[in-house]
Amino acid sequence: MASKKNKYLMMNEDLDNLLEVDHFEISILANASALMKQRINDLNWVGFYILKDDNLYLGPFQGKVACNVIRVGYGVCGKSVETRQTILVENVHEFPGHIACDEDTNSEIVIPIFIDDEIYGVLDLDSKKFKRFSKIDQRFLEQTAVIISKHLKRELKK
Ligand code: SME
Repeated sequence: MASKKNKYLMMNEDLDNLLEVDHFEISILANASALMKQRINDLNWVGFYILKDDNLYLGPFQGKVACNVIRVGYGVCGKSVETRQTILVENVHEFPGHIACDEDTNSEIVIPIFIDDEIYGVLDLDSKKFKRFSKIDQRFLEQTAVIISKHLKRELKK
């Protein structure tokens, strides 16, 4: 069985190739969320929130219906934008201000997506498992965010 590291390496390589043929911002985000849902174990939600002014708006995702607007500074997603850093939450019930979109979620990781130093939005992954995401997941998912950013930049700068 492929190790976690190898699975991420393959996923990121496949994602890079897949997004090469998507020529629209929404298609890039939609296919990226679909591939992650297919390849990463134990996810109940994966998708994007896109930053406009001081709000994060729900983007393409896989999972249950979710909250459509999150203010910067609020929830795990809003904190990630405010701090410009990945936030890894082992137990969402202990995270002050966590916004529960899917009540089955027990752990979460949110990674900011930068385009030329500006935050475009966040990548958010949720799991029903406590402590689902480790520093290894963080390292590879930050690479996933960089790949997505590269393809978004190509389309948005056209
Ligand atoms: N839990 C997030 C909200 C988004 S949902 O998980 C899809 C947060 O606290 O920002």
